[in-house]
Amino acid sequence: MAELFRLDGKVAVVTGGGQGIGEAICQRLSAAGAKVGVFDMSADNASRVAKAIDGVPLIGDLTKEADLDRIFREITTKIGPVDILVNNAGVASRKGRDVPIWESDREDWEFVFNINVTGLVLCCKAVLPGMIERRYGRIVNIASIAGKEGNPKMGPYSASKAAVIALTKSMSKELVGKGDICVNSVSPAVIQTPILDQLSPEQIKMMLSKIPLGRTGKPEEVAALVHFLSSADCSFTTGFCFDISGGRATY
Ligand SMILES: NC(=O)c1ccc[n+]([C@@H]2O[C@H](COP(=O)([O-])OP(=O)(O)OC[C@H]3O[C@@H](n4cnc5c(N)ncnc54)[C@H](O)[C@@H]3O)[C@@H](O)[C@H]2O)c1
Repeated sequence: MAELFRLDGKVAVVTGGGQGIGEAICQRLSAAGAKVGVFDMSADNASRVAKAIDGVPLIGDLTKEADLDRIFREITTKIGPVDILVNNAGVASRKGRDVPIWESDREDWEFVFNINVTGLVLCCKAVLPGMIERRYGRIVNIASIAGKEGNPKMGPYSASKAAVIALTKSMSKELVGKGDICVNSVSPAVIQTPILDQLSPEQIKMMLSKIPLGRTGKPEEVAALVHFLSSADCSFTTGFCFDISGGRATY
């Protein structure tokens, strides 16, 4: 029976939940009835968002395994095992390093991949054994239009988001037969959030010029899609990458 996207009784963790798209996702999942763990490396923002939605602040760095051990133990003890994981935390580039690939250095690649790819995998590893044991779970990975199209001067970011799309497909196939566990990704185009501070104004102008609807997206618009993907109603789609790009990509 359709559950009208309600999330009552469900426990969700949203990485990067302290601002931007993650904050909107925390608000939306909480409004739908979930208990939400707001995972962010910014203690102030994690606490602010958690307080506003009566959630749990989870403060730490998702590239550090010791932080992940502590955080996933904390959420399980405080509110219960995780039913929904939204892998939203991500970075565009090191500040001022939106450069062509031949000018990029190892640090540029390691910085972006550590957070966008390795951190995401570690978070999945933290929740999947429990989801498999309980035969239920929803994972939503925030990728990017850059992962489909390959933005110039955003090589590490584009490649990391293509990796997120591919990992989503691999994971979804590995989970077949292990219960009602769906893993999907979403690929937003430019959404008005503080992440844009990491890019030059020219880079943002180029990305905006490619959006047929002619505007930036709103964090709440991404949150609405993530809400559906986090719900029990999303039960016959797994491994897919949903577009939310104002018409930039129609595939
Ligand atoms: N804003 C856009 O235009 C856009 C477009 C496509 C995809 N995305 C993706 O959406 C997601 C959210 O983007 P946003 O625009 O809200 O970003 P943002 O920079 O506004 O917020 C990201 C949050 O993640 C947290 N974070 C970063 N690294 C972390 C770490 N190691 N451990 C814990 N927390 C960490 C930050 O503290 C911050 O609160 C990212 O994955 C981003 O790549 C954004």
